[in-house]
Amino acid sequence: MANTVATRASATLCSPKLKQEPWRFDMPLPPHYGPGSSQDDVIPAHAPRQQALPSFYCTRGEEELAARIERAKTVLGKKLVILGHHYQRDEIICHADLRGDSFKLSQQAAARTEADYIVFCGVHFMAESADVLAQPHQTVILPNMSAGCSMADMAATDDVLDAWEALAEVYGPPTGERASILPVTYMNSAAALKAFCGENDGIVCTSSNAARVLAWAYKRGERVLFFPDQHLGRNTAYAMGIPLDQMVVWDPREPLGGNTAERLRAARIVLWKGHCSVHQRFTVAQIDKARREYPGVTVIVHPECELPVVQAADLSGSTEFILARVAAGAAGTQWAVGTEISMVHRLATEHRDKVIFCLDPIVCPCSTMYRIHPAYLAWVLDNLVEGRVVNRVQVGAETKRWAKVALQRMLALP
Ligand code: 13P
Ligand code: SF4
Repeated sequence: MANTVATRASATLCSPKLKQEPWRFDMPLPPHYGPGSSQDDVIPAHAPRQQALPSFYCTRGEEELAARIERAKTVLGKKLVILGHHYQRDEIICHADLRGDSFKLSQQAAARTEADYIVFCGVHFMAESADVLAQPHQTVILPNMSAGCSMADMAATDDVLDAWEALAEVYGPPTGERASILPVTYMNSAAALKAFCGENDGIVCTSSNAARVLAWAYKRGERVLFFPDQHLGRNTAYAMGIPLDQMVVWDPREPLGGNTAERLRAARIVLWKGHCSVHQRFTVAQIDKARREYPGVTVIVHPECELPVVQAADLSGSTEFILARVAAGAAGTQWAVGTEISMVHRLATEHRDKVIFCLDPIVCPCSTMYRIHPAYLAWVLDNLVEGRVVNRVQVGAETKRWAKVALQRMLALP
């Protein structure tokens, strides 16, 4: 059967100028993130900003940039490792030494001890996690500092600390062996919040291990404060048998998160009011349409999608899970995928014996992942060749210490 995704997708880009104007992503456009799925989210004032890229790099063609990147890789050899998240565009992924989901890449960052430079083609929280897990001689570099994550930005550290204090008042001291509440942060969060979890007997999770992490947390605590993605928290807790009436949403703009003390006491999980704008685009109606148009199709989505979408899908899991399942599918099978478009496009191109398409007909990339343009990669690598480090992501010593505790609790899970 013919592979249809490329034509479907290119016909319906959410911004027709997206391909022609990659530099628009780097214009100072507050209060929003720029064209793409998260363009309506508000960038917090403290979010890192990228210095202007030297005009030399802005005016290079695609081939020249690719050649500069490869030349730098040859010169730097084993001193360099380039990590690429699955949502990166093809022109970046083709230079990555390793690709993966955020869990696999954090493991890889920790394992590649021979590399002095870890260039992380992903978003800011991923580079921070790599720095936390890196050896002292290793330097982590994010090619474009303004490649953040709008979901991670929805949980400001101060707001989480305020919530934690308010919850401590509601719950009081633990009555038995277990804590009355434990914090669990999704990998998509600032290092400061991972440190907060480390210091408060909590843990980090990713989309590939959220169920194991919650099981770990419930052995040690009555309840969980889960941030910043309410959907991953709800989907995971629901699959573990926690009923919806024992889940509450915490809105940081409301007193007690918009709950009564009684509701909070009855809750097993307190879900931060955060979401991913890319994954919120997927709907049950899109799944119904895919099933009508492609009888026998397998619907596979990321757990950052809303609960009804995950329930209506056949499978859900991390980007690495999606990749592995689709790759393992037999020739001729059909896959409707609910995740970021660069990854879906690549899956379709790399598995032309299957029909693979994005559930969402309006194709919007993750605008912040898309900020890693080859010109930025060439710029940071050329600087490394010259012995200069630009765009280093470095977590402060105390934050690093506690963030590492929380990350290592996760990495130590069987
Ligand atoms: P994965 O850990 O599944 O790669 O997800 C990271 C992410 O940001 C998804 O939106
Ligand atoms: Fe963040 Fe969503 Fe982009 Fe993932 S896809 S990096 S959660 S904004």
